[in-house]
Amino acid sequence: MRFVQGEKIAMTRTTQPMDPLYNPELRPTIDQIIEKSIDLDGGLMVVLNNLQSKIGFLSAPMQEYVAECLSIPVSKVHGVVSFYSFFTTVPRGKHVIKFCIGTACYVGGINQLIDKAKQLLQIEPGQTTSDGQITLEVCRCVGACSQAPVVVIDEVNNGRVKPSQFGRLIDKVRASEAVA
Ligand code: FES
Repeated sequence: MRFVQGEKIAMTRTTQPMDPLYNPELRPTIDQIIEKSIDLDGGLMVVLNNLQSKIGFLSAPMQEYVAECLSIPVSKVHGVVSFYSFFTTVPRGKHVIKFCIGTACYVGGINQLIDKAKQLLQIEPGQTTSDGQITLEVCRCVGACSQAPVVVIDEVNNGRVKPSQFGRLIDKVRASEAVA
C-alpha cells in the first residue's frame, strides 16, 4: 500500500501527548522523512537515521508508525533500533558521554571510569541527568585502542582518561556548548 501523509495515525494504539508522533510541529517532519525514503532499497535504515538526526530519538510509537508505513513487522524496526548504539528510544541530554567498552578499553580500565561517572552524576549509562545536560552511554570500539581507555564526549575521543580527571572533564562539559 502506498503511503499517504497522515493516513495511518488512526491505526496507532497508544496515545502519548508528548510523543513526537502526536506533536503537530514535529509530525510533518516525520511524515516527510518516511515518505521520501519509503520506496528506497534499505529505506528502513535511511528513515531511522533521518528520524534520529532530526527528531533526536525513536520512541515506541514512532517505531510502530514506521513499521506500519513500510509494511514491515515492528519487531524488525525494534531489532535495528536496539542493535545500533546511534539510535536511542528516549531523548539524549545536551551533552553525550560515551564509554568505549571494547576489549582494549575494558582492559585499560573503562569500568573504573564508568563507576566514577555514576558516582559523580548519580545516573547509570543509558540515563540523562535531571537537568537534561548529560547523557551517559556505552559504545563499541571507536578505533582508538592505542588511547585506551577512551571516553567519547560529544563525538570527540578523549584517550587515556583517569578516574581522577573525570570531575574536571565533567565541569568542562557542563561549561561548553553542545555540538549536537
Ligand atoms: S577498544 Fe576502545 S577504542 Fe578500541
